[in-house]
Amino acid sequence: MKKIIINGASGKMGKLACEIIPQQEDLILAGKAGRNDNLAKIIQSSHADIVVDLTRADCVFQNALNIIENNAHPVIGSSGLTQDQIRQLTQLCEVKNLGGIIVPNFSIAAVLMMQFAEKAAQYLEDVEIIEAHHAQKIDAPSGTALKSAELIAAARKKVQTPIDEMESIPGARGGKHHGIAIHSLRMAGFLAEQRIVLGNLGETLTITHTNIDRIAYMPGLLLACRKVSELNGLVYGLEYIMD
Ligand SMILES: NC(=O)c1ccc[n+]([C@@H]2O[C@H](COP(=O)([O-])OP(=O)(O)OC[C@H]3O[C@@H](n4cnc5c(N)ncnc54)[C@H](OP(=O)(O)O)[C@@H]3O)[C@@H](O)[C@H]2O)c1
Repeated sequence: MKKIIINGASGKMGKLACEIIPQQEDLILAGKAGRNDNLAKIIQSSHADIVVDLTRADCVFQNALNIIENNAHPVIGSSGLTQDQIRQLTQLCEVKNLGGIIVPNFSIAAVLMMQFAEKAAQYLEDVEIIEAHHAQKIDAPSGTALKSAELIAAARKKVQTPIDEMESIPGARGGKHHGIAIHSLRMAGFLAEQRIVLGNLGETLTITHTNIDRIAYMPGLLLACRKVSELNGLVYGLEYIMD
């Protein structure tokens, strides 16, 4: 039986995780934490094995350090970690010999979207990403968009020849990550959606993932809780534990 703490327990994702975990026979909800709690003390007093972080981009790094320093396995669902922060956390997990996972998207279908895009990017030269989220999301672009760009960039065989673009409004062509433009929408009407648009001479391929309910994240979150203690160090992406 694995003991789990949810950090960010009163948030939208946190509340759902706190409902779902007690319904599992092999997992125990050992504690809930929020902005005004001392996470280290809660980890120590509950002897938790795992902390799932579902907080915010502006505190996730500090939370992750705290979790690892207190020898609990981190399952980081919050978005907003920078590449440098991920490197630091990876090193710390290595030193502590602790398994952990950062999951930019707990949705199984979203992971499949990224894998399909990786395959398509081997054949279609031009790629851009359009992601859309609810208006309360503070960070942009989404962790999923960043991860998608990284996977696609690594899979591409040819890169489009850059031309000298002229933006009359800065940002009109999106923000670039690993050479791939990402366009972020934040508005009512969306929960989470991502379109990966690939272009070739005379044709386009659009791969779209649409999330209409946060329940879609729960199977991946439970999977991460079940597998994280078996991991060797810190991994980035649900695909590491899906097969
Ligand atoms: N990986 C995925 O698949 C996935 C899916 C959806 C969302 N997310 C990410 O998960 C995070 C949570 O999303 P959400 O929609 O649940 O957001 P939310 O409703 O705003 O919840 C965030 C929660 O974190 C709490 N919090 C803020 N600062 C904290 C701190 N320093 N320590 C502990 N708790 C703190 C907030 O408390 P207050 O209310 O007091 O501020 C709130 O309860 C976001 O980063 C989001 O981007 C990831």
